[in-house]
Amino acid sequence: MASATSILLNDGNTIPAIGFGVFMVPNDGSTYAAVTEALRAGYRHIDTAAAYFNEEEVGRAVKDSGIPREEIFVTSKLWLQDHGLEAARKGIDASLEKLGLDYIDLYLIHQPYGDVPGAWRAMEEARTAGKLKSLGVSNMTPNIWKSFVPQFDTVPAVNQVEFNPFFQQRELRELLAKDKVVLEAWFPLGHGNAQLLKNPLITALAEKYHKNAGQIVLRFEVQEGVVILPKSTNPSRIASNLDIFNFELTAGEMEQLRGLDTGRGTHNPETPGMAEMLLANYKVHD
Ligand code: A2P
Repeated sequence: MASATSILLNDGNTIPAIGFGVFMVPNDGSTYAAVTEALRAGYRHIDTAAAYFNEEEVGRAVKDSGIPREEIFVTSKLWLQDHGLEAARKGIDASLEKLGLDYIDLYLIHQPYGDVPGAWRAMEEARTAGKLKSLGVSNMTPNIWKSFVPQFDTVPAVNQVEFNPFFQQRELRELLAKDKVVLEAWFPLGHGNAQLLKNPLITALAEKYHKNAGQIVLRFEVQEGVVILPKSTNPSRIASNLDIFNFELTAGEMEQLRGLDTGRGTHNPETPGMAEMLLANYKVHD
């Protein structure tokens, strides 16, 4: 197994370049099984959230793996219902309790609406208390970033957003680069988008490197300096998505792949009514 590289964050901590995402994996034993399989395959970075409703199984799989805690990087996220200082304090403690962990390596503001600065203060407090190691945000477009981040005392270490070769987030990446903020990619495989995985450039590179299309997409993203969170419940894809550290795309191939950008994804965080829609659909408590 090729070993995954790590990326330095702007707070001095490091993050494995590839993480195993468990969005929409149910808390019915499937999350436990998938995380157990991922850890067995060599992943050392697991990405969950309060609103994925599976923190408990992630925590159990991490514990039962027998791998020392400090060798596994665990991310979770505060849900929108818990924004504001007081509510966020409770939300952070609830995540720690469900995970059954003493600390969380990276904690994100999952959705950028409501009292985000209050939530951020609670996260800074929790970091000082040793409960959280690194702090970040998610789903912040350049406009949303500019409206909230100047109100924070510390700059986020990451912004986790939708990213794949069809949606390369150029403007956002320029903005983040100024503060050495790492972009993390959700839906790095375009959520299994057949058009992406059958794209002729990508399939030709797959043939050249004896890799599959998913591995070419993920390798491109890692070479762009993006932290990737591919999701799979299929053991062979769980393993193959990690097997991307034994080949390198050339500068010319990287440039060709950059040309696939359409500037559009599936989710626009600035859509009016987004916060209300999310709150109506995901309730982490009454
Ligand atoms: P499965 O769980 O059956 O592997 P994303 O990470 O962009 O959300 O994509 C996840 C989706 O892509 C899942 O439906 C997953 O299905 C599928 N998938 C994961 N890895 C690969 C791969 N290497 N090639 C094709 N599809 C993949």
